Amino acid sequence: MSRVKSVREEALAAIAVAPGQDELEQLRVRYLGRKGTLTQILRGLGEVPAAERPALGALANRAREDVERAIAARRQDLADLAEEGRLAAEAVDISLPGAPWPVGQRHIVNQVRLEIEEFFLHLGFSIAEGPEVELDYFNFEALNIPRGHPAREAQDTLFVTGDLVLRTHTSPVQIRAMRARAPELPLRVICPGRVYRRDTPDASHLPAFHQVEVLAVDRGITFGDLRGTLELFARHLFGAEARVRFRPSYFPFTEPSTEVDVTCVCGGGGCPTCGGSGWLEILGAGMVHPRVLEHGGYDPGEASGYALGVGIERTAMLRHGIDDIRLFLQNDVRFLRQFGGEA
Ligand code: DAH
Repeated sequence: MSRVKSVREEALAAIAVAPGQDELEQLRVRYLGRKGTLTQILRGLGEVPAAERPALGALANRAREDVERAIAARRQDLADLAEEGRLAAEAVDISLPGAPWPVGQRHIVNQVRLEIEEFFLHLGFSIAEGPEVELDYFNFEALNIPRGHPAREAQDTLFVTGDLVLRTHTSPVQIRAMRARAPELPLRVICPGRVYRRDTPDASHLPAFHQVEVLAVDRGITFGDLRGTLELFARHLFGAEARVRFRPSYFPFTEPSTEVDVTCVCGGGGCPTCGGSGWLEILGAGMVHPRVLEHGGYDPGEASGYALGVGIERTAMLRHGIDDIRLFLQNDVRFLRQFGGEA
């Protein structure tokens, strides 16, 4: 009886600290296997005096059950521990910040375009678009640029065919927008887009650049409306202190026509950007020519309008003191990053 007890104690103690499944299996064999200690004791019961046999048999059987249960429990514990270890090793720390993905930012030309758009959208204008490959008729004829006009010469315009050009300005969208709306009034559109000229790139010329065209047509629109709009526009782009100045000019599609200067970024005192004059020329504008209104489907006796065209690169150059238009296309991130612009 005491041997059974001590074997049981010894087995339970060893099982409780068995370090792994293999060691546990060895213990099972040692105590419960065919030649195991407890098995042998149970087999030897026959040799025990009959009077002691029931008590010893019961004790030995309970000991065997206890050891079996202890092995099963330890087996489960070891399996649980192994699983925990595996899960811990595989764990992904989702609180770890990710590696920052390098994001770009808006190109300065797009930033200025969006600023211009935003200003006019707030005034109730909407955005109109037209093709970059444009009919001669829309690019020139309907804008009152007659045959023989220097702007139509091959050295200034990129022709696709005799009748098709890469648009040299965004003004043809004026005609398209009027035709889409006439005779309804009012019409207030802006047309941002890329334009092409046959130019050799230098510090102030690129063969492709961007403009925003602005057109308002309604009953009773006057030069005063143009002036007021431009004063607000100049302050939006160049700051609250900016003023505008109008110089008479000539464009075939406006009458009268004007070139508009805005107070230089130096504040008007004179600097290299303005050549000491204190003024920067930012855009061309005028009252829509009656013949242009007619081409657009409006009756010049009823409707009048103003139009303006502003170069985006030029505006950005004047505002930031950029002295070479080619910088916009070189994609040198050191240049582009200076202007911020969230992605
Ligand atoms: N289309 C002209 C150009 O590209 C700019 C311009 C001038 C547009 C006067 C206008 C305008 O709408 O009224 O040089």
